[in-house]
Amino acid sequence: MKDLREKIQNIFPKIQALRRDFHSHPELGFEEVRTANIVAKTLEGLGIEVQTGIAKTGVVGLLDTGKPGPTVALRADMDALPVKDAKKVPYASTVDGVCHACGHDGHTAMLLGTAMILSAMKNDFTGKVKFIFQPCEEQLPGGAKPMVEAGVLENPKVDNIFGIHLWTNYSIGKVGLKAGPLMAASDSFVIEIIGKGGHGSAPHQTVDAVVVASQVISAFQTIVSRSVNPLEPAVVSVGTLQAGYGFNIIADTAKITGTVRTFSEETRALIQKRMEEILKGITQAYNADYRFDYVKGYPAVINNEKVTEYVRQIAAEVVGEENVLNAEPVMGGEDFAYYLQQVPGTFVFLGAKNEEKGIAFPHHHPEFDFDEDAMAIGIELMVRYVLNNKNLKI
Ligand code: NI
Repeated sequence: MKDLREKIQNIFPKIQALRRDFHSHPELGFEEVRTANIVAKTLEGLGIEVQTGIAKTGVVGLLDTGKPGPTVALRADMDALPVKDAKKVPYASTVDGVCHACGHDGHTAMLLGTAMILSAMKNDFTGKVKFIFQPCEEQLPGGAKPMVEAGVLENPKVDNIFGIHLWTNYSIGKVGLKAGPLMAASDSFVIEIIGKGGHGSAPHQTVDAVVVASQVISAFQTIVSRSVNPLEPAVVSVGTLQAGYGFNIIADTAKITGTVRTFSEETRALIQKRMEEILKGITQAYNADYRFDYVKGYPAVINNEKVTEYVRQIAAEVVGEENVLNAEPVMGGEDFAYYLQQVPGTFVFLGAKNEEKGIAFPHHHPEFDFDEDAMAIGIELMVRYVLNNKNLKI
């Protein structure tokens, strides 16, 4: 183990440089051309077989030990966010309005570091490793689904998969994991209320879309509070309401958008049904009409019990048992869920907050940053995940 840590420390300057390079040149989802190029070149330089252009900008590397054993997949996402970087650091974004505000630059660098270590340790394990660098995690429909559809979990067939998210909700040195549901299914909706416009002084000749929309939004608040089982976590949030033309004009239409987060398919279906019933009832009562577009986003991230237990043991050896946390489920979505629907695996949170270094901003914040030392821990977790994998019985 000491030996492995030394190896990681030796390559760490390279990993940090890669991360900072990605950070200063962020690319949005499905536009990760520069990043994907660097990923492919780095993997090729390690003698790893590389496929590019999967689901537009995805890259997959295959490391074959030549000995029979499991095929293990490790995944990183490469995309940045449409956020203006507000950090004062030498590696700040050079692209106006685009920033790696979620740590995916770190995920990409960490997985490259893992490839560097494992390609030099081919004699120390068996089987194959697939390094999956996917595009566009941040925006629907996401990069994971088309990657899976393109067959990244086949040829050779992946036996199990592991993913890490750098996490500034936890301090550096902590690892959070959980078997079962970890992250929510995240759906979105667009609603149009169709009324009848007219003069603000003659409401009796109109169907006021603003009034109907307000009733709908208020009634939506009862879905979670009155219709969903109180032991089931769920969120229904209206994010935007747009309507109207002027102070003396009654609006003919109103547009409502929002998001729904759930952990079970039953609750997910129930909420969609209740939304439709409320829309139907309220618009009918006010002589209005509606259009309802419910867009299913990423499914819930459901971690496999045995793989999670396996990672728990590895994490305990890497950071100490007292630093392995039972992760609280979060309402955020993650398209790693699509891989988990196909093969057993686990997704974990890797502590990356460091108050002493002033690194404590939440994900997606304009000043988001993470403690780069977390990447060394992430690499060690992934390397060990592969080295011991033949002992993982699922
Ligand atoms: Ni993220």
